Amino acid sequence: MDPIAALKDYQAAATTALAEADGPDALEAVRIEFLGKKKGRLKDLQGLLGKATSEERPVLGKQFNEVRNAVTEAFEKRKREISRPKASLTGLDITLPGTQYTLGRRHPITQTIDEFKDIIGRFGFTVVDGPEIEDGYHNFDALNIPDVHPARDPLDNFYLSAAQAAAGTDGPTLLRSQTSTVQIRVMEKTNPPVRIVSLGRVYRPDTIDRTHSCMFHQMEGLMVGDSVNMAELKTVLKLFATAYLGEGVEIRFRPSFFPFTEPSVEVDMLWDGTWLEVGGAGMVDPNVLSAVGYDPEEVCGFAFGLGIERFCMRRHQVNDIRRFYENDVQFLSQF
Ligand code: PHE
Repeated sequence: MDPIAALKDYQAAATTALAEADGPDALEAVRIEFLGKKKGRLKDLQGLLGKATSEERPVLGKQFNEVRNAVTEAFEKRKREISRPKASLTGLDITLPGTQYTLGRRHPITQTIDEFKDIIGRFGFTVVDGPEIEDGYHNFDALNIPDVHPARDPLDNFYLSAAQAAAGTDGPTLLRSQTSTVQIRVMEKTNPPVRIVSLGRVYRPDTIDRTHSCMFHQMEGLMVGDSVNMAELKTVLKLFATAYLGEGVEIRFRPSFFPFTEPSVEVDMLWDGTWLEVGGAGMVDPNVLSAVGYDPEEVCGFAFGLGIERFCMRRHQVNDIRRFYENDVQFLSQF
């Protein structure tokens, strides 16, 4: 037989046999028949080539090697196909890589709130909640903010005329502009001593910029007892800031005014050489204690309100508060 024709026959027969082999045993039989070293078709071919003339031999030898390599490769390919689990009737290939789901994570502000609760909890403060929609009494009156005070200005507050009409309330309803409202709500219901914090959203129609947003978060703190003093207030705030931001943090207290505290301070924090205001604090004004039925001759207290975003910004070197509210997943996934 012509050796070239024999090589072609061999390759064609091997291709058919491999395609028909549908399991490991059948495949092994094909291997022995077509690629076996001791006997089988490869051996027969070699015998045939041995009879070729010395001129023919180099060309035939090259072709023989090519065909053998091709059949060996086809065999390996078929072996991989057979060992792969069968696709189901619906065409589902369970060996394909699955869809990668990215894990969601908590918003940086939520993470900060949780950490704040954890730290301040170690100072013995209990976490309480208050409503975001408030009435004028809790947002202003009980906090010693007189009727004519500019803090009540419609341009500085989100008054809710629709909500008010629906609720049938007489006084104004608004999105709370400060968490100090919760001080009142707690003292109305609780006898002293009191040691609480409340963390949540507040709303102000501020001009939005790097450090201002129309909605942000505050942590309000209130401690009332028979001998609470300003030194304790400063110590709590200093220790709190150190626990959250580390030993190097610098805090300064600047004399200020709030209708509901006397004396009052503004709290600043040093950030890259500049003082950034992070909150207000002071000794609870006797008028506030009276408004909730406490006796200012018997008890006194301190209160503070801290901007949560600003602490978080300083910790993570975020230089624009708006980044927190843009829902940019790339930004948020860093936390
Ligand atoms: N409520 C004040 C503000 O939002 C902060 C404050 C809280 C000041 C408690 C004194 C005491 O600016």
